[in-house]
Amino acid sequence: MRVLIAGSGAREHALAWAFASNSGDGASSAVFCAPGNAGTAAIAVNIPVDPENSQEVLRAVRELRIGLVIVGPEGPLAAGLIDALEAAGVPAFGPPRKAAALECSKSFARSFSERWGVPCACTERFSRTDDLRRFLDEGRGKRVVLKKSGLAAGKGVLESDDPAELLSFGEAVLESDELLAEEFLVGRELSVFALCDRSDYLVLPACADHKKAYPGDLGPNTGGMGAVCPVPYADDATMARIESEIIAPTFRGMEAEGLGYRGVLFFGVMLTGEGPKLLEYNVRFGDPETQSLLPLLETGIGDLLGGVARGALCSLRPRFSAKAACGVVIAAPGYPGAYPKGIPVDLAGTEDDSLLFHASTSRRGDGSLVTGGGRCFTAVGLGGDWTAARREAYALAEKPRFEGAWFRRDIGASIFGG
Ligand code: AMP
Ligand code: GLY
Repeated sequence: MRVLIAGSGAREHALAWAFASNSGDGASSAVFCAPGNAGTAAIAVNIPVDPENSQEVLRAVRELRIGLVIVGPEGPLAAGLIDALEAAGVPAFGPPRKAAALECSKSFARSFSERWGVPCACTERFSRTDDLRRFLDEGRGKRVVLKKSGLAAGKGVLESDDPAELLSFGEAVLESDELLAEEFLVGRELSVFALCDRSDYLVLPACADHKKAYPGDLGPNTGGMGAVCPVPYADDATMARIESEIIAPTFRGMEAEGLGYRGVLFFGVMLTGEGPKLLEYNVRFGDPETQSLLPLLETGIGDLLGGVARGALCSLRPRFSAKAACGVVIAAPGYPGAYPKGIPVDLAGTEDDSLLFHASTSRRGDGSLVTGGGRCFTAVGLGGDWTAARREAYALAEKPRFEGAWFRRDIGASIFGG
């Protein structure tokens, strides 16, 4: 199979690694990444193509005789890459632009989930500062969550009980976008992925991300600082409730509204005292969740994702290992605020570590490695149990050396203890 993976993050490196190590069907894959990173360059062929430029991608697909395109990040989905590929008859994994609105517009997503009876936080919408000011005055001191409606790379959310902080965040959002204010939900979070091929869906093992920047779940929101899989509190009864109360009504609603969905839908779920509630939809695999999930997949990934693209999901029964996975994100200094790029990285001693996934790294003309993003690597550990997985992950997380590198040292601690 000749596969093209669109994107340049650690999630795309994990996807490329999964194709390179077990594509399925006994066949090997030729893997191309657009544009990929220095990590994918070692296991696949990077091509200098902008995944948000559908024409460039189509040209590469024809030249390289690609049989399946997997879209990692939301940007190309919002830009209509899947629509262009489908129009050209190219098998692709990802939803069309219309369905990508479930992630690209939190306002649309909230109205959609309210229409279909999906439990979520009580939400108010604002387009004017005056209305927001009045709302904050009336609820003074109450903890609320403000959200920018459009895409914000995990940084468009503020939880606070400080009216001044909320107002200044809200005013900044309202300059260019719609604002949502949600009731603050208390509980434990899960990232749940469901593959969907338009007719059927299939729920994958749940992961738990760590969204806050600092230990103890403190500090600002990030794209995610580490993820574990499996998650003990995602037991059968909990997953059955999530499926019947959140996932099934969502897919029913999408079918009824003509949101043809092929790819993976990510449900951010809060397990509250009143039951599971939807925090958000994402129209792609999570990052860093994917880096912990895919090393546990025993079924060939080409069979699974190719099956989605072909509309053959109902015949698939993916197998996952009974091991535990822990992923730790290694970030640049300053992240999730402003951070420098192009920091030289020393990866000595990682030659045998296949689960060190790069994000936006590149090589200079002299071959030296440099960072390119805020989240620079995900170090994944696998083990027979959680303790072994964590030990492996943290041993690996120490290895990439660069100025100002940092990571949370408590990934999984609130879930497994210690
Ligand atoms: P979102 O982009 O909507 O998933 O929000 C990012 C993160 O903010 C989530 O993963 C949660 O940790 C937190 N969050 C979002 N909405 C709420 C809410 N209504 N109550 C509590 N925490 C929330
Ligand atoms: N880790 C959360 C996300 O991918 O949005």
